[in-house]
Amino acid sequence: MLPKETRSAEAAEARWTRVATAEDVPPNELTAVSTDRGPVVLAWVEGRMYALEDRCSHQDYPLSAGELEDGEVECIFHGARFDLCTGRATRLPAVAPVRTYEVEVRDGGVYLRLD
Ligand code: FES
Repeated sequence: MLPKETRSAEAAEARWTRVATAEDVPPNELTAVSTDRGPVVLAWVEGRMYALEDRCSHQDYPLSAGELEDGEVECIFHGARFDLCTGRATRLPAVAPVRTYEVEVRDGGVYLRLD
């Protein structure tokens, strides 16, 4: 049987899912990826990677079709905006947040915690 520390480290590692290579995500663009939890949009801005549910909380259209602007993603369909860090809606017509995911870039890959 594995020591307890090894088991907990393996369990923590198992929660991370590789969804893209770092090269797949150009800086300052929105990149859509598919995951077991549904579509996710990645954004690499000023050296930091962000991951949000790729579904606008207004009418469910993909945020990945939109634009990055001042640390926010703007939905191209009706102009709602969401904070990249928190997913908070910052401009109408959206009022509800979108889900965000913990993200890590390591070993050339982009990993999300999808749990
Ligand atoms: S679907 Fe995004 S603002 Fe309407």
